Amino acid sequence: MRGRGEVGGAPVVVRTRDELAAVRADVRGRLALVPTMGALHGGHRSLIRYARERADMVAVSIFVNPLQFGPGEDFDRYPRTLDEDLAVCAAEGADLVFAPSGSVMYPSRPQVTIAAGPMGEVVEGAARPGHFDGMLTVVMKLFQLVRPDVAVFGEKDAQQLAMIRRMVLDLNVPVEVLGAPTVREPDGLALSSRNRYLSEEERVTALFLSRALRAGEDAVPEGPAAVVRAARDVLDGAVAAEPPLALDYLVLVDPSTFCEIGDAHSGPAVLAVAGRVGATHLIDNLPLRFPSKES
Ligand code: PAF
Repeated sequence: MRGRGEVGGAPVVVRTRDELAAVRADVRGRLALVPTMGALHGGHRSLIRYARERADMVAVSIFVNPLQFGPGEDFDRYPRTLDEDLAVCAAEGADLVFAPSGSVMYPSRPQVTIAAGPMGEVVEGAARPGHFDGMLTVVMKLFQLVRPDVAVFGEKDAQQLAMIRRMVLDLNVPVEVLGAPTVREPDGLALSSRNRYLSEEERVTALFLSRALRAGEDAVPEGPAAVVRAARDVLDGAVAAEPPLALDYLVLVDPSTFCEIGDAHSGPAVLAVAGRVGATHLIDNLPLRFPSKES
């Protein structure tokens, strides 16, 4: 494998568990894993860079996990762009890419899976039943196969990150979980593999999501209820736009439980929003902090 700090060469690409085990045995030092479903964009690039700064070796997994897609969701049409993804991994200095097939990850239909628990049933979990069970199951399998010391996930999927942290805590998984900041287009749109589905007009409607979050952020000094009101006012425009946003949720939640917070809340919070523009499901969020009433 490449030595530390060499960027731009080709990473070792493995497709099977045996190949992965052989390469893993050669890893020296701290190994970081960046789990992805491919269709890599600038957000993934920043995750790989974030991982490189915090570990000796970086592995990227690329696997579109069928278990986390519900009926009628976009599993079949989810973009699969392995050649471009490998070029991104090389350019960002990843050392290892694990790109298993469906039958390598799931040789038979799994009977034992991870149950996400109460946090898996609220917010995004309420909009996508079963999604977090499937996501946690594949992340746990990746942890078992790759055996990373540290794993890096995007804060863009804030509830996913909170659930993975909770799984690692509850099941004593020996992995340090790190969240890396959301990357945005200059006009505020959060980078997502699903953005490529958007037509020009749909993208204009999608921009209301980040605009609503910024409006909510501006209202922080007035307290939680004002934050939600300010964001909702902006989203009303999106619901009335052409094409319209079909709003799934707008919530202000505790970052570690994803339970909604009350107006007396102080400390950290996450303002999270999701909806569909055309057939495309989009999510976004902003971490906020409410000053304590005494200060
Ligand atoms: O965030 C994603 O791309 C996926 O949910 C993950 C963590 C790779 C699991 O399939």
